[in-house]
Amino acid sequence: MYICLCNAVTEKDIHQAVCEGACFMRDLRQRLGVASQCGRCATCAKAVLDQEMQHSRAMQYPMHQHSRSILKQSV
Ligand code: FES
Repeated sequence: MYICLCNAVTEKDIHQAVCEGACFMRDLRQRLGVASQCGRCATCAKAVLDQEMQHSRAMQYPMHQHSRSILKQSV
């Protein structure tokens, strides 16, 4: 799905940018041009970025996520 129509940026492009180290909106703006023209995509792009960052962290620390769920269950 297209996130930024002005620059033809898709969710997949944002996913790829996060895999390559993008962590902030300014990174997406520099790499892909997200929110650099009309700005209407900013909110949606931030939501996709946050989602990708969460997914990325979960993949990096799967035991940490598992431990947290066990702790939640035991409380
Ligand atoms: S839709 Fe992204 S800058 Fe216009």
